[in-house]
Amino acid sequence: MLKNLCIFVLLTVLYCTCATPIQPRIVGGQIVDISKHPYFASVRIKSCSSCPYIHKCGASIYSDKVLITAAQCLMNLDSKWRIMVVAGANSRSGADGVQIPVEKNVTHSGYNFWTIDNDIALLFLQDGLPLNEIDIKTISIADKMPLPGKSATVSGWGWDAEDGGPTYFLHDAVVSIVDNASCEKIYGAGEITNNMICAGLKKGGKDGCQEDTGGPLVVDNNLVGLVSWGRGCAREGYPGVYTYVPSHKEWIDKKIIEIEMS
Ligand code: ARG
Repeated sequence: MLKNLCIFVLLTVLYCTCATPIQPRIVGGQIVDISKHPYFASVRIKSCSSCPYIHKCGASIYSDKVLITAAQCLMNLDSKWRIMVVAGANSRSGADGVQIPVEKNVTHSGYNFWTIDNDIALLFLQDGLPLNEIDIKTISIADKMPLPGKSATVSGWGWDAEDGGPTYFLHDAVVSIVDNASCEKIYGAGEITNNMICAGLKKGGKDGCQEDTGGPLVVDNNLVGLVSWGRGCAREGYPGVYTYVPSHKEWIDKKIIEIEMS
């Protein structure tokens, strides 16, 4: 009897160790080449003179000199720290791609740390990006809310699991748009503002995560969202919450004119 129990325990342990799937990246994503998402860029920060630039967030190329990212990405930065944008790169910390310093950044004045409303910021580059038709391209902002259930792609160098770590190669994952009313039922009344959009899978398993923040959620080649927040990452029943970029289009275009005129 005891022997049978031992064999049973041994088999269970073996089954559990061997059958646990290897955690894929972003969360539940796949490695992709930057040419699949040529509008994707990395925001890297250098926090001391001898420190290297370190990937912090994702961003989207809106024009040769302007990128869109999340307000969160620029919080608590020391004015002495340097910010750089890397476009056309496949690796998180390699020397591939084009690296251009950020000259000025503008965070939405309505960004709210507690509610994460208006989680959007603009990065103005010192020099224009060498746009091409291959791996460094601009992306337009969607002009309407995608229908619930529509496929959307999120990309980034973020964590491969809630308790995981960063990924060296760029990853993407396909998730489905969740309507705001259903998303609010999940996260609670008033949590999902008109400046947010949700996307995920009912069973979880695919999502953006830490350090994907600010990166693009794309539907039909247009920018719809920026990775912003969620309960953990890729949990069953909890979609990711994104900054809804179309509701900020006017703010973006106004700020660009303002800064470029100044
Ligand atoms: N910026 C968030 C954080 O660091 C994570 C972003 C996305 N989370 C998600 N589940 N989609 O906590």
